Amino acid sequence: MRKEQFSERAAGRVVQNDAAANEAGLEYAMSADDFDRVCRLIRSEAGIALNPNKQTMVYSRLARRLRATGKRSFADYLDWLEGDSGAEKQDFVNALTTNLTSFFREAHHFPILEKHLASLRAKPRINIWCCAASTGEEPYSIAMTALKAAGGGTSPARILATDIDTTVLETAAAGAYCDEAVARLGAEVVRRYFLRGSGAYAGRVRIRPEVAGLVTYRQLNLLTRKWPVRPGFDAIFCRNVMIYFDRPTQLSLVARFAPLLNPGGLLFVGHSENYSEARDSFRLLGKTVYQVAPAAACKSAGRPGNS
Ligand SMILES: C[S@@+](CC[C@H](N)C(=O)[O-])C[C@H]1O[C@@H](n2cnc3c(N)ncnc32)[C@H](O)[C@@H]1O
Repeated sequence: MRKEQFSERAAGRVVQNDAAANEAGLEYAMSADDFDRVCRLIRSEAGIALNPNKQTMVYSRLARRLRATGKRSFADYLDWLEGDSGAEKQDFVNALTTNLTSFFREAHHFPILEKHLASLRAKPRINIWCCAASTGEEPYSIAMTALKAAGGGTSPARILATDIDTTVLETAAAGAYCDEAVARLGAEVVRRYFLRGSGAYAGRVRIRPEVAGLVTYRQLNLLTRKWPVRPGFDAIFCRNVMIYFDRPTQLSLVARFAPLLNPGGLLFVGHSENYSEARDSFRLLGKTVYQVAPAAACKSAGRPGNS
């Protein structure tokens, strides 16, 4: 058994000192205080509220950062991080985000989006914000839906895709995936929107340029007070990210989305999310799809877009 495998399993509990860590086969000790410091830091940097049962995950992900930076203990690493660690803060955030996603995840949203986009077809420009884009499967699914709604050819839709995690944004912008990522999509969808790799790229697919060209990637932390985006979105996808935030943060984000949406604009959230308290800003349109309330929507519809 590799040490790391053993470590990841043994790290389910806090190990207070080096002797105890050695005994448990762990490379580093992680005390309750270390874990609390990690929780405070990731909450203030990214809004992520870690559960106490995430110790194993935190240990295994941050042990890699300790190794990469040559730090000998969690305390050393955290002291440095809380001081002037330069780019390491971003690596720390990247290490602790959860990026699970897939093409056409929560598939019931896409026919609703298609219908909405078809109703806006006369507009010269349709703006969509996908604000936890992860490795790109979600914004590309939105782009494919936009092309379908446009009936082939070009689409007036432009998708701004953002995430806090710089590593996933690099993967997203590259637009290349392994075959398994598209295994559950129909053959026709794959043929129409992907290029199959050959030779050294066998077993890989790449998003076709006409799909990729609709998407612009930028880093954006949802927690920042001023988002560098202009109002005038026709839809916002904010799926499966607010689940990591506390309730007041969730509700304040939902309230901030409303004035960014054009009248009639839609907010798509994740399958386990419910923002019924935000009834001044949104009304529930369907399962986990909200429509902005007329009085809460952006007052300057038709502005130029963000990308
Ligand atoms: C579980 S993934 C969801 C991906 C996609 N929206 C979906 O539903 O398939 C959550 C994403 O939220 C991002 N994230 C976490 N905290 C964030 C923050 N404060 N600002 C922006 N993105 C954040 C993570 O980096 C991760 O890529």
